[in-house]
Amino acid sequence: MLISGQGSNLQALIDAEGIDVACVVSSRAEAPGVERAQRAGVPVLATADEPETNAFLEQHGVELVVLAGYMRILSDGFVRRWSGRILNVHPSLLPAFPGAHAIDDAVAHGVKQTGVTVHLVDADHVRADTGPIVLQEALAVSYDQSRAELAERLHEIEHRLLPEAVRLFAAGRIEVDGRRVRISG
Ligand code: GRF
Repeated sequence: MLISGQGSNLQALIDAEGIDVACVVSSRAEAPGVERAQRAGVPVLATADEPETNAFLEQHGVELVVLAGYMRILSDGFVRRWSGRILNVHPSLLPAFPGAHAIDDAVAHGVKQTGVTVHLVDADHVRADTGPIVLQEALAVSYDQSRAELAERLHEIEHRLLPEAVRLFAAGRIEVDGRRVRISG
């Protein structure tokens, strides 16, 4: 997993049955997610350097790269190297509200529905948060609740959807046809 922050999605994958988090790369050494990995005995490297990241992933026999709150744009070379094997989780119904402030942007827009998207990362990654959508779940926005409550409800969805997507990948059930993903079986 590649992370930069809290690592609550990392925790969800660590806790998920049948999923083996091979290693973690954090672009920030002080990210709370680093400690979560250490506590779980998962090998962790703090680096923002891509060749170093790649070498670490290879060394740990990684089959799938999961981005969860990873705040760096990956190079073409990296995305090509792991083509079809990079998942990202994002707190909006993409393609609405890509980028680092999705929750605030959706609220500022006054949307009545937002949600969570898990998608494969494609070569158009220069614009963040693009690629074939694997899973999506909507959430009604109540403007009576605080921003923190909304974020918490979105996180709860993420913590369910991301392990589900990883399981689908591991089972070979994600079939990509252009922009579309068909879940087989
Ligand atoms: C999540 O909301 C994810 O969708 C977004 O960044 C956040 C990361 O949260 N890409 P965490 O570090 O997993 O707690």
